Amino acid sequence: MIFGLLFAACQNAEDPSLKQLHKSSVSKDLTGRQLYMKHCVACHQADAMGVKGTFPPIKDSDYFLEDPKRAIHNILFGQAELIVVNGETYQSLMPPVKISDEEVVKVVNYLLEEVNQVEERISLKDVEWVRQNR
Ligand code: HEC
Repeated sequence: MIFGLLFAACQNAEDPSLKQLHKSSVSKDLTGRQLYMKHCVACHQADAMGVKGTFPPIKDSDYFLEDPKRAIHNILFGQAELIVVNGETYQSLMPPVKISDEEVVKVVNYLLEEVNQVEERISLKDVEWVRQNR
């Protein structure tokens, strides 16, 4: 809600330095967790356990942890194929999420580091690679 208001305020502002302020202090500084809460939580839920049979879990997801780089493709281009997550079959639709490459890195690393507590991380290079080799 606050972000929406700030965004509207910045859009109406004539002063370009205010727009710059909006860009740097509002959208770029979101943490991985904040990005998750903004762009993913509606489906995957706050605890990242999803909704069984409809939205797959990302916490303790064998599918996600087997190849976290695959999540980059999910986020950039969406996904609508049959997948099996922790023995449960999902065939629903994840629409592409419109966030920057840096934000993809942050949100996936949040899911690795904080949600799943594993060592693996993805990098900006990985996101660029996925974009180029779609
Ligand atoms: C509108 C609902 C929706 C939103 C929003 C959404 N997803 Fe998904 N996501 C899905 C669905 C549905 C699937 C399963 C798609 C399929 O059946 O092929 C999925 C699959 C996935 C998978 C692979 C399966 C797994 O659980 O391991 C990952 C990882 C994932 N999403 C991450 C994200 C992230 C990160 C975001 C936010 C940046 C996000 N999703 C936003 C609905 C959503």
